[in-house]
Amino acid sequence: MRILVTGCAGYIGGTFTFEALKRGFKVIGIDSFINGKKNNIKFFLENYRESFKFIEEDLSDYKAEKLKKELDSIKIDVAVHCAGLKSVDESEKEPLLYWKNNVDSTINLLNILSNSNVRKVIFSSSATVYGDSDIHPILEDFGIEPVSTYGSTKVAIEQMLKDSSRSKKFDVVSLRYFNPVGSHKEMKVYESPYSMPNNLMPRIIRVALKLDQKLQIYGTDYDTRDGTGERDYIHIDDLVEGHFKAVEYIKDFKGYEVFNLGTGTSITVKEIISCFEEVNGIKISHEYADRRPGDIAKCYADPSKANNLLGWSAQKNLEDMCRDAWKAIKNNLNDAK
Ligand code: WQD
Repeated sequence: MRILVTGCAGYIGGTFTFEALKRGFKVIGIDSFINGKKNNIKFFLENYRESFKFIEEDLSDYKAEKLKKELDSIKIDVAVHCAGLKSVDESEKEPLLYWKNNVDSTINLLNILSNSNVRKVIFSSSATVYGDSDIHPILEDFGIEPVSTYGSTKVAIEQMLKDSSRSKKFDVVSLRYFNPVGSHKEMKVYESPYSMPNNLMPRIIRVALKLDQKLQIYGTDYDTRDGTGERDYIHIDDLVEGHFKAVEYIKDFKGYEVFNLGTGTSITVKEIISCFEEVNGIKISHEYADRRPGDIAKCYADPSKANNLLGWSAQKNLEDMCRDAWKAIKNNLNDAK
């Protein structure tokens, strides 16, 4: 089977690409390096030359000549669309950058796929589409009310895909990620703490590496167990396994479907800090700061639809996530990825 992976140099797209190559899939990867890491591409080309082809291209550039040319000569079975900027915080500061990068690139991609008769699309969506839900755990048919620009771009893309599937041009599965953390079991692809990340786990790791003195805890007055933000953290290995289940599911599927990829449990900021300290034996100094624009109090999944229809459920726990996230960085200290 041949898969197109957009954002193949990124944390999620790169981890999926690595596992797909290990499982014998042929992969065409595309990335603009706006967020992805060149080391990941170098690793794939060195170790999977026969089954990995890379295209450096900005999908938000409507011409996208390289991808068009590539798809003229080969048949893609499924496109896994991971490319996109993904920081809630940054999206509030740069809304138009997020609309152009995330939405324009998807319109261009769908036009190219349509011209190349690629029907099957798996989309990297996000739990941020739900916004600040006051009912938990969250089901896929809950209200869609994003409170961040990042979430709004994911809602717009889901709607575009839903409309495109109604036109019978595409069959689409949207996977709503909750909070992916940790590293692939072989520790070769991981979320870099070096490129000024916004997400909590790489920020914790920056303190562990002494790159930052203290972790800022954004808000302690939320209506949660301990006043700090509550999220559904999911191990990247479990998230990626959910994609392979979706690849299997979409083969015989027609139409548009959405699945939550989460564990169904919530963890607060303070709880994940304590877990990281205990598992890795490292003190994470922290201080309290104001709430961050675009943040919500609580967000965790009801994953029963994915459990039942995809035959998928998360297997790894928070200890695994904290251990693997830190181990990958320790194993790759020379690679400032
Ligand atoms: C988590 C919690 C912060 C940094 C993520 C992804 C997004 C999407 C949804 C996939 C919040 C707190 C953070 C810090 C902190 N996933 N925090 N100090 O905002 O839930 O969004 O999940 O699509 O792509 O970004 O994740 O890790 O930024 O924040 O206190 O330095 O940690 O306030 O409560 P978020 P996050």
